[in-house]
Amino acid sequence: MRFVEVEKREGIAIVRINRPDKLNALAPEVLEDLEKAVDMINEDEEVRVAIITGTGKAFVAGADIKYIGTLDEEGGYRMAKFGQRVFSKIEDSPKVFIAAVNGYALGGGSELALACDIIVASENAVFGQPEVDLGIMPGWGATQRMTRKLGQGWAKYLILTGERISAHKAYEIGLVQKVVNHDNLMDEAINLAQTLASKGPLAVSLSKEAINRAFQLGDFGFEYEAKLFARTVGSEDKDEGVRAFFEKRKPNFKGK
Ligand code: CAA
Repeated sequence: MRFVEVEKREGIAIVRINRPDKLNALAPEVLEDLEKAVDMINEDEEVRVAIITGTGKAFVAGADIKYIGTLDEEGGYRMAKFGQRVFSKIEDSPKVFIAAVNGYALGGGSELALACDIIVASENAVFGQPEVDLGIMPGWGATQRMTRKLGQGWAKYLILTGERISAHKAYEIGLVQKVVNHDNLMDEAINLAQTLASKGPLAVSLSKEAINRAFQLGDFGFEYEAKLFARTVGSEDKDEGVRAFFEKRKPNFKGK
């Protein structure tokens, strides 16, 4: 792939968006490569956790503004649906996705991070939804995922003002889960990925699924949780986890 590199290390996939001269802006061909990478990861049984990061000084500076300039209304709809499809493959994946945000995460870049399960940010990272400055609005999920994650107050503030915020501010409002020294970003993300990869695979992916549904299911969410909980309780992983607890050793989970 020309614009996205995937490196695999013992159950962890590191995805690097690689268009640094344009701050990793997601032109259609970049988004196509990202979709291929996500599909590969989702089909790879060895991969438990994926880390998405950017090459150079940006994570992703948004959708490609030059391309947006060429679109009419119908093209805009197609563009929104394409990005939404790719980002939903991340959100709906049974694997955990970590966004390791190394710099600018603006517009579609912030939306990509929002589609990931956990955001770890360099202290140099900058977040924002500056679409209103271009006379457009977010189209790759921010109005939905940011509202679910932060509530209407911060989603409206950030999307309506287009204000760019620091990693520390993003942490304060709950957008980011961890802010780390810039030079340690990938080490911290890999450590976190290794921790996640050491847990019961079924337990982690079903927990993610239940949390993803929290805002869709209303009271049925509790019933859904009970059903998924029961699947984990009936699993071989639970037998192993409980045995390992009493034998005072690390469990050897199989994801079954
Ligand atoms: N699309 C296309 N090209 C972009 C880009 C983008 N989103 N962001 C940066 N670039 C290009 C610049 O045009 C420039 O190209 P040239 O070298 O050929 O001139 C190159 O990347 C480097 O950028 P700058 O010179 O601007 O770098 P800077 O350090 O001075 O500024 C920045 C960095 C503040 C991030 C600035 O580039 C910027 O504001 N970028 C646009 C951010 C933005 O508005 N993103 C939202 C896009 S719309 C969207 O994402 C819609 C959606 O919801 C899907």
